[in-house]
Amino acid sequence: MNTVTHSFAYQVYSSASELASPDRELLALAGMAVSSSHAPYSRYHVGAAVKLADGSVFTGSNQENMAFPAGLCAERVAVFAAASNCPGVPVAALAITAMADTFEVSEPVPPCGMCRQAIVEYEMKYGNKIRIILGGHSGKVYVIDGMKTLLPLTFHEAELAKK
Ligand code: THU
Repeated sequence: MNTVTHSFAYQVYSSASELASPDRELLALAGMAVSSSHAPYSRYHVGAAVKLADGSVFTGSNQENMAFPAGLCAERVAVFAAASNCPGVPVAALAITAMADTFEVSEPVPPCGMCRQAIVEYEMKYGNKIRIILGGHSGKVYVIDGMKTLLPLTFHEAELAKK
């Protein structure tokens, strides 16, 4: 028996203003996407912005539904929009932020587990890491080098991808 330890390093910035301009701009676009959120049930409004390898940007926001599981997170709205409009173009970076109606989001907003799984698929598809920029309405910003970092032991079955 062996014990295996996973650890990872990530960058912590004290505020968005400390970021280099490409990261700061992508996070600002995620912030703008918050306004298109449809979140009458949670009143938690998430915005995401995806930058592709060719420089194009797609944004998304969480879209909730009365039938709760029918809704979708902001990250998947943004990444699926990018993938369906620009097939074949790798995803380079993803920024996420949120605002809540009833409290201040003062911590970086990490992607949920389903979004991690959905997005890591594009890292595997194109063989590149996606830079992840996590902000809140205020406070620190985290930058993580790759979605797989946030999803150790990723489900991945090569046989399923075979024709
Ligand atoms: N949400 C996202 O948009 N992204 C995440 O990664 C986690 C949660 C949304 C789903 C729901 O509309 C609201 O935030 C509260 O869970």
